[in-house]
Amino acid sequence: MIVVLTGAPGAGKGTQADMLAEKIGLKKLSTGDALRKHVKEGTDIGKIAGAIMERGELVPDDVLFKILKAELDGVKADQIVLLDGYPRNLSQAETLQTLKDRHPVKAAIHLDVDRSALISRLSGRRVCGSCGATYHVSTNPSKKEGICDKCGGELAQRKDDKPESVAVRLDVFEKTTRPILEFYGARGLYKQVKGEGLPSEIYERLSKLIKAI
Ligand code: AP5
Ligand code: MG
Repeated sequence: MIVVLTGAPGAGKGTQADMLAEKIGLKKLSTGDALRKHVKEGTDIGKIAGAIMERGELVPDDVLFKILKAELDGVKADQIVLLDGYPRNLSQAETLQTLKDRHPVKAAIHLDVDRSALISRLSGRRVCGSCGATYHVSTNPSKKEGICDKCGGELAQRKDDKPESVAVRLDVFEKTTRPILEFYGARGLYKQVKGEGLPSEIYERLSKLIKAI
């Protein structure tokens, strides 16, 4: 079964999905992470996606469907999948419904964060180029500047965290992704969680909700 974790860029989807995967064993499936892997490896998908992602726009739906299918095919029937970053428009939400016999969506949880907080989170984010661990220069800094605490890899800013791309991403979220909240609301699956506060506090809110599903 699937729990959709949605929210604007910088809402903390990745941070929370990592905590939920580690602490309660959910399987995290991030379409953004999968796409970045393709870009890094220079695959055909990566060649299509790289420039689009850097501008902050959405990668075409057919590419995302291939990624989604490939990731879900490896999932065991009794595993709870936390979907981070999919669906991102109504067409993707409809597509996900077509897989409902094997992968029913049980809830769509929206992490709600104020726009000014999103901008400061994204401008200060640093990511490890080796293991993908995420930091923030002021709220969650690494012990040694520029070096990952977990693996010693080098930390860098994501290419789409520059201000021009952030503005596009926030706009895309409002115009194209926000309508999925109503889509899930109409099906009785929508839940909202306050995404501000300490990551540990937000984790408590989310895990309580997910355990009740
Ligand atoms: P994706 O990688 O999914 O990016 P996003 O949705 O823009 O979200 P982010 O990863 O930027 O933010 P997050 O919510 O994970 O926040 P995080 O935990 O890192 O997608 C990238 C691109 O891929 C898209 O723009 C698109 O081009 C493409 N793509 C992906 N999926 C697609 C799809 N389905 N269809 C089409 N295209 C697709 O936290 C952010 C920062 O805040 C970090 O520094 C963190 O340390 C900090 N932080 C986290 N929690 C807190 C807290 N509680 N308090 C203070 N700081 C916090
Ligand atoms: Mg993320």
